Amino acid sequence: MMPQLITTMNLDYWTEHFRRNAEDRPEPDWNAPISLRGPALAKLVKSLQQFQLGDGGGPAYLIAWDHQRLLASDAGLKELVDLWFAEEREHSRLLGSALRRFFAPEIREHWSFSLFCGVRKLAGVQFELYALLLTEIVSHVYYKMLRKHVKDEAVRGMCALIIRDEAGHIAFHRARLASEKRPFGRLWELAFRFRGLAAGTVLWVNHRGALRAAGATDAEFYRGIWHGMDAFIRGLRGDLERVRAGATMKPCAQMVAECA
Ligand SMILES: [Fe+2]
Ligand SMILES: [Fe+2]
Repeated sequence: MMPQLITTMNLDYWTEHFRRNAEDRPEPDWNAPISLRGPALAKLVKSLQQFQLGDGGGPAYLIAWDHQRLLASDAGLKELVDLWFAEEREHSRLLGSALRRFFAPEIREHWSFSLFCGVRKLAGVQFELYALLLTEIVSHVYYKMLRKHVKDEAVRGMCALIIRDEAGHIAFHRARLASEKRPFGRLWELAFRFRGLAAGTVLWVNHRGALRAAGATDAEFYRGIWHGMDAFIRGLRGDLERVRAGATMKPCAQMVAECA
């Protein structure tokens, strides 16, 4: 069944959020001196190559077999989805610039991204939206750890921009799920956390080397994604209570700040 997304969500506010978020975006200083060397740099490059492909460099749009039906249900929703994926393509551009900074090429395919796209196509748009949301929650943790640990000002500047955008994407998912007015009870939470841990583990298998070489730990990553899922679930249930009580949803800016 196609989700009823747009019962209480104010699409105009979210369009305005994306428009404002396109302003005041300081470009990282790609020509700043590079102090990273050796295996730590090689591992970072490998990680950035995969993210450049996966974070807006591949098919940067909904690709599930039934996604057109969802988009056709509301023109405002389609516009929001377009704006969301425009930001994802911007992430790929930033990551491509980081790769050029380190004299590294972009890659065209990776097994984990091919698998991810294949499952999204087959499993339908409901599944795809959850898969993208969970990927955004765990990627948000990756970019925060990269900004904290990697000693490169340009990479840190890039992470700051992407972290800001992803907070908006996570908040957008929270608003659209709250609009569905489903119960989001214990069983839903169990499945959500299980899928989040699976998404996080796939990310960690591929990117652990880069972050560990920069000083991060396994515990830090898993604490981060658990906290990210906690915050999302708590926020969503709060939004749902407001919607059920007939109140308007929190302002976008507040929701984005809560997901930052
Ligand atoms: Fe992204
Ligand atoms: Fe995103």
